[in-house]
Amino acid sequence: MYNEIDLDKIDIAAEPPAEEPARQYYFMAKCRKYVQKLEEELGRKPVCCVKTFGCQMNARDSEKLTGILTDIGYEETEDEHADFVIYNTCTVRENANNKVYGRLGYLSNYKKKNPHMMIALCGCMMQEEQVVEKIQKSYRFVNLVFGTHNIYKFAELLYNSMESGSMIMDIWKETDKIVENLPNKRKFSFKSGVNIMFGCNNFCSYCIVPYVRGRERSRKPEEIIREIKALVADGVCEVMLLGQNVNSYGKNLENPTGFADLLREVNKIEGLKRIRFMTSHPKDLSDDLILAMKECDKVCKHMHLPLQSGSSRILQNMNRHYDKNQYLALVEKLRHAIPDIALTTDIIVGFPGETKEDFMETLDVVKQVEFDSAFTFIYSKRTGTPAAAMENQVAEEEVKERFDLLLKTVQQISAKKASALEGKTVEVLAEEENTQDSSLMTGRLSNNSIVHFKGTEDMTGKLLQVKLTECKGFYYLGEIVSNA
Ligand code: SAH
Ligand code: SF4
Ligand code: F3S
Repeated sequence: MYNEIDLDKIDIAAEPPAEEPARQYYFMAKCRKYVQKLEEELGRKPVCCVKTFGCQMNARDSEKLTGILTDIGYEETEDEHADFVIYNTCTVRENANNKVYGRLGYLSNYKKKNPHMMIALCGCMMQEEQVVEKIQKSYRFVNLVFGTHNIYKFAELLYNSMESGSMIMDIWKETDKIVENLPNKRKFSFKSGVNIMFGCNNFCSYCIVPYVRGRERSRKPEEIIREIKALVADGVCEVMLLGQNVNSYGKNLENPTGFADLLREVNKIEGLKRIRFMTSHPKDLSDDLILAMKECDKVCKHMHLPLQSGSSRILQNMNRHYDKNQYLALVEKLRHAIPDIALTTDIIVGFPGETKEDFMETLDVVKQVEFDSAFTFIYSKRTGTPAAAMENQVAEEEVKERFDLLLKTVQQISAKKASALEGKTVEVLAEEENTQDSSLMTGRLSNNSIVHFKGTEDMTGKLLQVKLTECKGFYYLGEIVSNA
């Protein structure tokens, strides 16, 4: 494992090794010399800031970047006034991009006063040609730009950037490579995301992810199990298995396997207490997965099952491969097998051609299913996707009206669902001391809701029986009944 590697023992005068991950460790050792020199010049430890935009996959990638940066000698900070700042970007909706440009403008002023500062950009936005052109033209102060496919080369690219006076840019169109055993530094001591697959093959017509993350690639089950065992040995009690469509896990492996079997294997890991996963595509949700969820005691009773639209016509245009009735039938099957399962979803409003009637179908599904919570999005046109070329884009005002109505409906239902748990005693994983009141601990229910209760920090990572005394809308107040 990587934590057994001693960077000081690497011969940096030698030629770089060709194989991975040894090559990256070699460049980390080289970068470390640079950071040591910087520390002498500054008279203090250099600090780095890794800023994440986007989904859980990006959050996990950022932990890998942070692992490398801290191993080579930077100290971590949340503050962007740092010696090294990297933005791990998202491009799923236009506003994600705008945020990055806004912040970059601000950073450039700070860099003018602190010329030794390094700025790097990576992540999904960098896989877009027009973004890269814009950065090359108008953001010359950026030191390093790379994409999603070569993130494993971060140490090498960073070293090149430290050596060079000008902008280093390296973007790949594709990769079939998965490099294991690189460093990572978790944000939370007790829980961790674990990639089980990368990329996406679904090409939903509105979505840019398949273009910026490439084709679906699954990690080998033994690598996943090995990583989780090491995490558990390091104090982790909850894992979130991550993939754009976990339900198609394992199809392209040398020895094909399925997500349900992976869950069963992960469930056997001693010391691990909770397993979550996201995201499930309704079209690939198998009966075997439902069975596995039922059988495996560590798997949380929660499924995030993106609906996107309740209109069968729109779903077809979205290329989702299921219709309204199939979605409803799936929900029924899930609830029949696991009665107390929490269901959450993603919904897009204003997809091209969406009529009032289509939207009413979405509202109808929301009311029938009664999701515990839902992320609602206004459709955002992404260059290069089939939906961007569709002619019948919906007027902004109309979309806004629908969006507000949907949000209101979703919130009313969430509040009703949440208050139904009031007075019940449930299993809670204590996560951390409450940030506002240190006499309280914050924990999470199996269904992903949050509860605050009287407790002490040493409870972190423990499963407790907590009575939910009061529902405060999106969270609960509770009291410990007993240690589970
Ligand atoms: N792989 C996941 C979703 C990843 S993106 C899945 O298929 O469920 C997260 C969510 O962003 C999507 O579920 C969708 O609701 C939303 N989204 C994706 N592209 C979008 C776009 N162009 N405009 C608005 N929302 C979008
Ligand atoms: Fe995008 Fe669809 Fe893939 Fe999800 S499944 S990442 S929405 S293309
Ligand atoms: Fe965004 Fe990339 Fe995730 S586009 S949602 S960060 S896969």
